[in-house]
Amino acid sequence: MARQIKIFDTTLRDGEQVPGAKLGLKEKLEVARQLKALKVDYIEAGFSASSLGDFKAVEAIAKEVGRGDNPPVITSLARAVKSDIDAVYNSIKHAERPLIHIVLGASNVHVEKKFNKSKEEILEMGVEAVKYAKTLLPDVQYSTEDASRADFEYLWRTIEAVVKAGATIINIPDTVGYAIPEEFGNLISRINYRLRNLNPDVILSVHCHNDLGLATSNTLAAVKNGADKVECTINGIGERAGNAALEEIVMAIKSRADYFDAYTNIVTRELKKTSRLVSNLMGLDVQVNKAIVGDNAFAHSSGIHQDGLLKSRDVYEIIRPQDVGVEEMELVLTARSGKHALRNVVQELGCTITDEEAFARLHERFLELADRQKEVYHHHVYQLLKECGLVNGSLKGNGGFTPYEIVSFQVISNDIFPTASVKIKKGEETYVQSANGDGPVDAIYSAIKNVVGLDIKLLEYKVNSISQGKEALGRASIRIEHEGKIYSARAIDTDIIKASAVAYINGINKILLDNVAGGNDQ
Ligand code: KIV
Ligand code: ZN
Repeated sequence: MARQIKIFDTTLRDGEQVPGAKLGLKEKLEVARQLKALKVDYIEAGFSASSLGDFKAVEAIAKEVGRGDNPPVITSLARAVKSDIDAVYNSIKHAERPLIHIVLGASNVHVEKKFNKSKEEILEMGVEAVKYAKTLLPDVQYSTEDASRADFEYLWRTIEAVVKAGATIINIPDTVGYAIPEEFGNLISRINYRLRNLNPDVILSVHCHNDLGLATSNTLAAVKNGADKVECTINGIGERAGNAALEEIVMAIKSRADYFDAYTNIVTRELKKTSRLVSNLMGLDVQVNKAIVGDNAFAHSSGIHQDGLLKSRDVYEIIRPQDVGVEEMELVLTARSGKHALRNVVQELGCTITDEEAFARLHERFLELADRQKEVYHHHVYQLLKECGLVNGSLKGNGGFTPYEIVSFQVISNDIFPTASVKIKKGEETYVQSANGDGPVDAIYSAIKNVVGLDIKLLEYKVNSISQGKEALGRASIRIEHEGKIYSARAIDTDIIKASAVAYINGINKILLDNVAGGNDQ
């Protein structure tokens, strides 16, 4: 029978240790609420003894998120000293399912160099800490810090002693990201075998860091070898190179349930939303090619791939984007996109080209344009269709779709009254509008909104540099909401204000296209 793998999220503790990522109480609560919606089994809400602010945040999370309908376990980290354990207990005691988490070094280097003590002294310290924690709460997790570099027999003696003292979860950390999957799997298998004989009710857990880029692989090797609980963070954030990424572990277990014979309770449709929230609140960008939650994780640009996908999604897609909360499969047209992908966009624009010579001419023009500007959007294809004489006026249905295009713009950026003016074309019509805003991008978006007159809410705005040097290119990506539906769009330019404006216009054109497809002529 498939095993449930429990997900322990430490975004608010290990993840928050990233320099500059510290959150206030309000933001921590927001993340914790979202983690509850994601249905993580455990939330490590902070390090209560570290500051009053951390204590208060853990307490607020315990009181709100740790109560109510099927709440997650709430925990916080303590060193193996009474004052830390007291701080943890006092901050989590209001949760329905509180857990005290104790950490103490287990490797020679930690025992000798960090604590300057003997192994026996450290072991005794761990046992005393667990015994004290047990006087406060029934559930106590013991983490054998730096376990992957520890002497195995000493590690086991520690585990045996703290289990006898009452620890209910044993966590094996690869603290410095040193382990290799096969080796870590063997370590977990050996510990699991002995632990089952010692006390089968004790949960075996792992906590892996990503210094060699192996955190997810090591975690999955541990799952395969008997770990029932895994510690991880959203977007893999954490100390140094980070922790194992929650979204990667969860989707690997889900996608390869045949291999792991396991499942998690995570609501995977909430993954992208959680990733965005953590990234935005902590100010930590997610790399574009990051598995599962990166902007390009479901974007296909090679012609061979686009062709395969258009024939059948499973040719190049192992996860449905919707399953992780990504709104759409994005086929970005580039010079490497094949004819099939171009034809698909032409059809989306409501045009069918049966004359193959005409289509070949269009494809040639498309390649010239793609070579010049890297990414080609729907309204460019529309323009090409017009230039090739393949359409008169507008496309799609009777009213048709006519995209907006930026003709020119000007922004005045200052700290008193940022202002923008735009000239926009829609077919033969030209519009000019000005607006002010909180900054130049806000101002230009207001001016564009004044022209199109649609009710649009900007949900997300990002600018990334995608090349260096004199010709440095910036990519602007946006997510907007219109009538409850979310649209994402992007644009590239050497001028990031222009890229921002074009991305917004691309998003608006998507709304128009969608409405035409739904029967509302624009
Ligand atoms: O990396 C580590 O060892 C930790 C422990 C507290 C589990 O973060
Ligand atoms: Zn850690």
